[in-house]
Amino acid sequence: MSTTQTLLNPTLHSPEVRDFEAALRRRVVGQDRAINSLARAYQVYLAGLSAPGRPLVNLLLLGPTGSGKTRLVEAAGETLLGDIRAVIKVDCAEFQHSHEIAKLIGSPPGYLGHRETQPLITQEVLESHYTDKAKIALVLFDEIEKASDALWQLLLGILDKGTLTLGDNRRVDFSRAMIFLTSNLGTAEVNKLMVGGIGFAGSAERDREELDQKIYRAASEAARRKFSPEFMNRIDRVIVFRSLARLHLEKILDIELTAVQERIIAATGSQFVFQCSPSARDYLLAEGADPKSGARHLKRAVERHLVFPLSNLLATSQIELGDLIIVDFDPAESQLMFYKDSHGALVGAKTEPCEEAAVSSAPSHRVGAARGAARRATRDAA
Ligand SMILES: Nc1ncnc2c1ncn2[C@@H]1O[C@H](COP(=O)(O)OP(=O)(O)O)[C@@H](O)[C@H]1O
Ligand SMILES: [Mg+2]
Repeated sequence: MSTTQTLLNPTLHSPEVRDFEAALRRRVVGQDRAINSLARAYQVYLAGLSAPGRPLVNLLLLGPTGSGKTRLVEAAGETLLGDIRAVIKVDCAEFQHSHEIAKLIGSPPGYLGHRETQPLITQEVLESHYTDKAKIALVLFDEIEKASDALWQLLLGILDKGTLTLGDNRRVDFSRAMIFLTSNLGTAEVNKLMVGGIGFAGSAERDREELDQKIYRAASEAARRKFSPEFMNRIDRVIVFRSLARLHLEKILDIELTAVQERIIAATGSQFVFQCSPSARDYLLAEGADPKSGARHLKRAVERHLVFPLSNLLATSQIELGDLIIVDFDPAESQLMFYKDSHGALVGAKTEPCEEAAVSSAPSHRVGAARGAARRATRDAA
């Protein structure tokens, strides 16, 4: 090596890409491989070196339900395009019959209903979400295993040549699009792996590694069995999402609780702040634990046990401007209790968030008992 040669670092990302990665990491927990793939594609785009005549990247996302596949794409929408709704989503299950393809690409001129069927994907739609920062379209094809043959043909064209021909022969150019394809293939096997023996939460790191290896094999083998080689050859990277451990779910709960607080600020102009005690958080994690639906159920538990009661408290003016609301778990009532911090007064113990929950998790005498306790506590405090 001559002395004029300097060793370069080809793994270093630019600050923009590092910011992008960090923003994705704040939103999507435990899926570093997926985030890396996305960051890499973004770096290639920013450097202007994306291969011409094809999409910026074609990523196939596999793995357990509720592990963040859709969330990752939405998070990319938020960070790159400033809006979660900037993602163009095609639910392949809606196009299971070949004639339904007209909903996607419009029907040829002269066909009955030609004027009525506006194509879902057009050049204008792709470009409508471009920003100064990123002239990129994010296109998500969800549940591709349910696509009809006609949709498969279109997909192959998009993945390979980056083009789609609409019903009226207009062309759509996908060379500035990132394509995400998700599939639940192998989910049945994956679910069995997760529910049996080594469960979701708290498993030893080594068991989790092993579980994730098995999930990886089950999902990628199912994909190879089901999808044709010509399809698989057009995929830049197959990413199998990891199962979520207790540690991940705790972080996701943080994200969800922050999101609820942000909703409160947006809706009421910072009317109040709430804080969950460690035992309240444990309760939400336990209520939201379901190996079969990943973090999906956790989100529902937060809505049911926190957002609904908080809405009641707000709507009945039990919460005032500037209040600090403490959410705690009461083991005796086995439910969440809500306190106003100022005088330690109990503002509401009524946590039957919906009929269904009241029936399944809180027998009515318990709810009655809780109401009694609430009244007593309020009296005591007064
Ligand atoms: N890895 C994750 N990081 C952060 N949130 C997650 C993650 N996985 C799931 N979630 C939460 O669960 C919800 C459902 O996840 P989603 O991405 O739709 O699952 P899927 O993998 O089935 O597409 C998300 O909206 C998000 O709130
Ligand atoms: Mg999904």
